[in-house]
Amino acid sequence: MNGLAERLQSLSDEALAKIGAATGASELEEIEKTILGRKGELALLMRGIGGLEPSERGPFGKAVNEAKGAIAAALGERKDSFEAARMSSELDDPHFDPTEPTPEHAVGHLHPITKVRREVEEIFLRMGFDVTDGPEVETEEFNFDLLNIPSHHPARDLQDTFWLDSGHVLRTHTSCVQLRAMIARGGKPPIRVIAPGRVFRNEQPDATHEHTFHQVEGLMLDEGVSVADLKGVLTTFLSRLFGQACEVRLRPHYFPFVEPGFELDVRRAGSKGEWLELMGCGMVHPNVLRAGGVDADRISGFAFGIGLDRVAMMRYGIDDIRWMMSGDPRFLSQF
Ligand code: PHE
Repeated sequence: MNGLAERLQSLSDEALAKIGAATGASELEEIEKTILGRKGELALLMRGIGGLEPSERGPFGKAVNEAKGAIAAALGERKDSFEAARMSSELDDPHFDPTEPTPEHAVGHLHPITKVRREVEEIFLRMGFDVTDGPEVETEEFNFDLLNIPSHHPARDLQDTFWLDSGHVLRTHTSCVQLRAMIARGGKPPIRVIAPGRVFRNEQPDATHEHTFHQVEGLMLDEGVSVADLKGVLTTFLSRLFGQACEVRLRPHYFPFVEPGFELDVRRAGSKGEWLELMGCGMVHPNVLRAGGVDADRISGFAFGIGLDRVAMMRYGIDDIRWMMSGDPRFLSQF
């Protein structure tokens, strides 16, 4: 093979020895260029293939390719080990902080709904309430029947419901968690819980309506709990939430699962300003208490439901509820 094979062998041996002796990544790059490059020594050697017997050309070409593969693999391995050494020396540097955010990536933050939800939780936790939750996919029983809304009841029409093929519903309110909380506690008072969560209604979205929104349900049950307690607890809650003394007004309103039921309006204490309609509330209906395993003759209590989106919109001056679930960074980056 007129010495070509021998030259290939020694070239390959030399290259591998150089790679083994290299002390840095730049040396490897140099070796790569001079050996494997388009005008490198292997390419040069390959040119000699024309002078070989036709029967020798195939085996020689194969040998060149094998040498190329072996050299490339050795280069790759050596590069990796230099890189690993570089990384570990950087990590050993006491000034290196791997948790430091990279400058080109914006840091995330909490969604306005989450911020407001956490504030509400904090206020109620301090008043001795627990935070609980329930499933978003509910049974018809928990969303309606056991809340005193039988299937013939016109109140079902007030809530345009997403029905699943299984007969379940996407819960139209958090009031189902009242029942779940009573049952989970064996119907034994005192029960003081709030239940924040997502709710769903088959609404045509506009500036004040969304098919997906957020409520916080509240429930307080014990012996002798009255409308005065409802008013006191909610006045304290709203004053803390809005950071100023508030007064509330209860207007009679129909919700099947409370009796009496109210809409609650709020305004700054002592102001002659407009009342702002804020939430539904009332004394838990005896049928609902019984469905939750509570002794309705001895125990009474109140429940309320407040819309978190509404509160967040007021807090941050947001004019369209559809921004909330939009995931739009132009909106989210403002908080
Ligand atoms: N569940 C009612 C709603 O979605 C709100 C409410 C809760 C009313 C608790 C009274 C008591 O509008």
